[in-house]
Amino acid sequence: MKKYLIIGGSTGIGHSLAQILAQQGNEVHATYNKTEDFEPIQGVSFHSLNVMDDQPDLDFVGESLDGLIYCPGSINLKPFGRLKPESFIEDFKLQVVGAIKVIQACLPTLKKSEQASIVLFSTVAVQHGFNFHTQVATSKGAIEGLARSLAAEFAPKIRVNVIAPSLTNTPLANKLLSTEDKIQANADRHPLKRIGHAQDSANMAEFLLSEKSSWISGQVISVDGGMSRLKV
Ligand SMILES: NC(=O)c1ccc[n+]([C@@H]2O[C@H](COP(=O)([O-])OP(=O)(O)OC[C@H]3O[C@@H](n4cnc5c(N)ncnc54)[C@H](OP(=O)(O)O)[C@@H]3O)[C@@H](O)[C@H]2O)c1
Repeated sequence: MKKYLIIGGSTGIGHSLAQILAQQGNEVHATYNKTEDFEPIQGVSFHSLNVMDDQPDLDFVGESLDGLIYCPGSINLKPFGRLKPESFIEDFKLQVVGAIKVIQACLPTLKKSEQASIVLFSTVAVQHGFNFHTQVATSKGAIEGLARSLAAEFAPKIRVNVIAPSLTNTPLANKLLSTEDKIQANADRHPLKRIGHAQDSANMAEFLLSEKSSWISGQVISVDGGMSRLKV
């Protein structure tokens, strides 16, 4: 049995991952922030946490930790000219500084594991340019750089990898998927002709946290219906 911490486990990909890890009999701690009416999961301890706080309290983690996954993200799609520099800073605080604070707080406990794994999230929009994605691509580009540098610094004890999804049906993407027409149009844009399910990325996260991926570190792995590589 391993011990995992999911930052942002109340909805979406983090919630799906919490289900998978708990079903395997692992000790799973997951956090929520604004969503208090989330679906509870048997075997998962939920804790309130806001990564925007100066020093998020992670004392509940205990002595050691085998895996950490950081899910908080945003999708604020606007023309560049309509974004204020402050919006980029707020986004950076949530997506990048939040991850840094949590990783620093968990580092002593991760180091006590025989082989620990950290999984962070980017987006298809970093390696592939899309209109109106400057804000999210800026923060997620930093996540990719952070993860590669940490993977080198923490090797061989702690592996660090990144998942780069394309559009996935979670509360985060609600606005983009609010009608059947929008869902169909977005499905059609993907070579594999559907949008992502939370489980698509959760399955990849489970793999990257597990020993099945013990020779993989410093990678950005696309879970994107072929969007970043295929033109069909
Ligand atoms: N969905 C997509 O289309 C898509 C595409 C590309 C990349 N991604 C990336 O994949 C990751 C997971 O996304 P998702 O779609 O699963 O998102 P989601 O459904 O919105 O889940 C995000 C989780 O993060 C938590 N969270 C948000 N703000 C927080 C804060 N300030 N402090 C602590 N926790 C906070 C949320 O908690 P509460 O709900 O309780 O506030 C929730 O549990 C994100 O990094 C996202 O950028 C998603």
